[in-house]
Amino acid sequence: MVTAVTHPLVQHKVSLMRDVHTGVKEFRELAAEVSMLLAYEAMRDLDLSPTHLTTPIQEGDFPMLSGKKLALVAILRAGLVMTDGILNLVPAAKVGHIGLYRDPQTLQPVAYYNKLPADIAERRVFLTDPMLATGGSASAAIQFLKDAGAQTIKLMCILAAPEGIAVIERDHPDVEIVVAAVDEKLNDHGYIVPGLGDAGDRIYGTK
Ligand code: PRP
Ligand code: URA
Repeated sequence: MVTAVTHPLVQHKVSLMRDVHTGVKEFRELAAEVSMLLAYEAMRDLDLSPTHLTTPIQEGDFPMLSGKKLALVAILRAGLVMTDGILNLVPAAKVGHIGLYRDPQTLQPVAYYNKLPADIAERRVFLTDPMLATGGSASAAIQFLKDAGAQTIKLMCILAAPEGIAVIERDHPDVEIVVAAVDEKLNDHGYIVPGLGDAGDRIYGTK
């Protein structure tokens, strides 16, 4: 299932990210802001329980988050800026890291680092990567999370190609994808078109 977040603020900020003239600092800030707005949607079904507290006026039961705790898991590198943004909303979430890069020739994901919260099986997992292109990286990361025991996983991306969505729907039909925009296609180098370029390079000013 794909949830596209069509809110005008999200669309405006994503268009600024696409602009080739947007510099590193602004791009990074926009990526974090868009991620917070995506999290607002992705976390819409978090459990609430009535909690007894006292306002300055009177006592009462008021809704507060309950149920499974959260884990944010970033696919390195580019997913890191997304988890940093989302932590502004859910500062108590634990954070995991999955190190993957896409081999530029084969476009296959290559794993180089993993560190997950020990209790990942008991947490709702929000996996972050700004770009869902061929889907190879996200699919491998989701499989790694499942092998570690994760049961409830949502994938959060800023841009997705139809090809990548099809791969996740084929490999992991239980995983909801929350995305800001679904683009047209991939080009011959596996880049999203029209896209925003290489997300990692634009966030960190590399290349
Ligand atoms: C980018 C992006 C995704 C991956 C998407 O990472 O952040 O992880 O490519 O491509 P896919 O859907 O075809 O697998 P990259 O390999 O450039 O690594 P980086 O984040 O370290 O720059
Ligand atoms: N990774 C990126 O950073 N950008 C793309 O367009 C595809 C994969």
